[in-house]
Amino acid sequence: MRVVLLGPPGAGKGSVAQLLRDRLGVLHIASGDLLREAVKANTPLGIEAGRAMARGELVPDALVTAMIRDRVVQAGHGRGFVLDGFPRTAAQAVALDEALAAAQAPVDRAVYFKTSPAMIVKRLAGRRVCAACGQNYHATNRPPRRDGVCDRCGGALAPRADDQPETIARRLAVDEAQTAPVLAHYERRGLLHTMDGDQSVEAVFDQMVAAFRRQGWLQQGTEP
Ligand code: AP5
Repeated sequence: MRVVLLGPPGAGKGSVAQLLRDRLGVLHIASGDLLREAVKANTPLGIEAGRAMARGELVPDALVTAMIRDRVVQAGHGRGFVLDGFPRTAAQAVALDEALAAAQAPVDRAVYFKTSPAMIVKRLAGRRVCAACGQNYHATNRPPRRDGVCDRCGGALAPRADDQPETIARRLAVDEAQTAPVLAHYERRGLLHTMDGDQSVEAVFDQMVAAFRRQGWLQQGTEP
């Protein structure tokens, strides 16, 4: 299963991808997580990416594509991948297609989480992320069992640095400008599936798996 998740910040891409990883065993590849790791490690990529991320701007296409391409191609031959946060521009979508076509492991489906602005703001304001393993929580929607502590690994939970009101506003504006061409790209190829992103994470996951099953995208051995 090779799936791309599309949607604005706070649409639930990361949360649903973590369920697909845990229940279907597919590899979760999140461009934002990889970039945050590079920032933390202070690599040359991290130094350049960190400046754009702090402003809520996109990291240049060439940097993100180079960072992600080999991982995706490798995963495309195994149990598959769920891509979260990439592609985010038409140029990234084309680069991804080219890399996967060469590997004969193309994207099966692009799923767009259509989400209302009010819901996005509520979700990002309450998001808490584990500093050690990256697991997502929400102060009210999905609290951890112990306050401030990750259920999965015991790491400390904190808000994300770019979940501040001004940066959120910039990220949403950037997303609005970039999303339409990416959706059009997958629509043209007959791969786009749109879902109501305002629903709960479990509801989105269940409906997605049901659609995968109905349309035969779920390969044997990846049943939840
Ligand atoms: P990235 O990390 O990809 O952030 P994003 O796209 O802004 O998306 P988010 O992680 O904010 O949202 P999400 O949809 O994953 O929501 P989540 O599941 O966490 O990118 C960060 C930055 O890196 C970018 O601004 C850019 O600078 C750079 N970057 C990354 N990729 C790039 C690329 N390809 N090209 C260039 N630059 C790139 O949910 C949010 C919260 O809501 C959580 O607390 C969760 O628990 C809760 N929640 C989610 N869904 C639900 C639900 N259905 N019901 C109830 N609660 C929910």
